[in-house]
Amino acid sequence: MPSKVSCLYLLTVVCWASALWYLSISRPTSSYEGHMSIPIRKTVKTPKNFTFTNIRSRSLNPHSFEFVINEPKKCESVSPFLVILISTTHKEFDARQAIRETWGDESTYGDIHILTIFLLGRNTDDVLNQMVEQESQIFHDIVVENFIDSYHNLTLKTIMGMRWVATFCPKAQYVMKTDSDIFVNMDNLIHKLLKPNTKPRRRYFTGYVINGGPIRDMRSKWYMPRDLYPDSRYPPFCSGTGYVFSADVAELIYKTSLHTRLLHLEDVYVGLCLRKLNIHPYQNSGFNHWKMAYSLCRYRRVITVHQISPEEMHRIWNDMSSKKHLRC
Ligand SMILES: *[C@@H]1O[C@H](CO)[C@@H](O)[C@H](O)[C@H]1NC(C)=O
Ligand SMILES: *[C@@H]1O[C@H](CO)[C@@H](O)[C@H](O)[C@H]1NC(C)=O
Repeated sequence: MPSKVSCLYLLTVVCWASALWYLSISRPTSSYEGHMSIPIRKTVKTPKNFTFTNIRSRSLNPHSFEFVINEPKKCESVSPFLVILISTTHKEFDARQAIRETWGDESTYGDIHILTIFLLGRNTDDVLNQMVEQESQIFHDIVVENFIDSYHNLTLKTIMGMRWVATFCPKAQYVMKTDSDIFVNMDNLIHKLLKPNTKPRRRYFTGYVINGGPIRDMRSKWYMPRDLYPDSRYPPFCSGTGYVFSADVAELIYKTSLHTRLLHLEDVYVGLCLRKLNIHPYQNSGFNHWKMAYSLCRYRRVITVHQISPEEMHRIWNDMSSKKHLRC
C-alpha cells in the first residue's frame, strides 16, 4: 500500500512539474518582445487591446468552464443580505438536506434575505450526476460547473462560487464560503458580526486566520510540493472551513484568480489572491477550525464549528432552537 501511495504522489508531482514547465514556455513574454522590436508605427496598426493586462490575464488560469447546472435568477428580484456558498460533493445528499433543514433554511431569518447555494463539479459517475440534477430540480440551490469534482480541484469550486456571485448576484451584501460538515450559528453571524443595520463594508474579509507555511510532508492532507510553492511562508489566509467577506471581494478574487497560478489548497489560494489585492483578513475567534464538543452555552458563542455530521446538525439545531429562553 505505501508504495502505491508514494507512486501516486510522485505522479502528481511529475504532472505539476510538467504543467509548470509548459506554462513557463507558453508564456508570451518572448513573442511580446519580438513584436516590440518591429517598427510598429509604420507598418501595422496596433489594436488598442494589445496591453500587458491582456497578456497577463490570458494565460495562467482561464477558468473556462461552463455551468451545467445554474440558478441564474435566484438573485434577480431581491438582493440578499448574505449568500452562503457551500462546497459539497455528490454523495453528501444527507449533509445538504441537513443544512437545508437547519441553519441553511432561507425562510427562518425574517426580513433578512439569505441565499444558500451548494457548489459541485462533475462526477466521473454519471448516475451521481443525474441524482444531483434531480435534487437540483426540487430545491433549486445547486450550481455545477463542468470540471471534474475531486479533492485536488476544490480551488476550482471556490472560484466558481466567486464567479457565480460576481455574475449572478452582484448586489448581495455579504458572502460566506463554507463546507457541508460545518455548523453555522447564523444568529451570531448575522447579528453580532455582519449587523444588517450598519453601513455595508467593502474589501472586508474575515474568518479563522492562519499564519503558516507549506507542509512538505507528503503524507499530510495539506502537502505542498516545493516546486509548486517554493516560499517558506504563506500569506495570512482564512481556514476554508468558513470565511466571510463583503460581496465586492467575490469579483476581485475571481478576476485576480484568472492570472494567479492555481494551487490545490483553496484557502491558501484565496489568501494569495487577497495579498495581490492588498486585502487583509481579520481574525475572528468565533470561527472554529476544529471540532468542539456540543454544549448549548459554548455553541451560543461561536460562528462556525467543524466536523458535524448530518445527525448532529439536526440535534444541535433542535436543541438550540427549543432552548432559546434558557440563559447561560
Ligand atoms: C477588445 O476587447 C473587447 C472586449 O474584451 C473585444 O470585444 C474587442 O473585439 C477587442 N478589440 C480588438 C481590436 O481586439
Ligand atoms: C480537475 O478538473 C479538470 C477539468 O475537468 C480535469 O482536467 C482535471 O483532471 C481535474 N483534476 C483532478 C486532480 O481531478
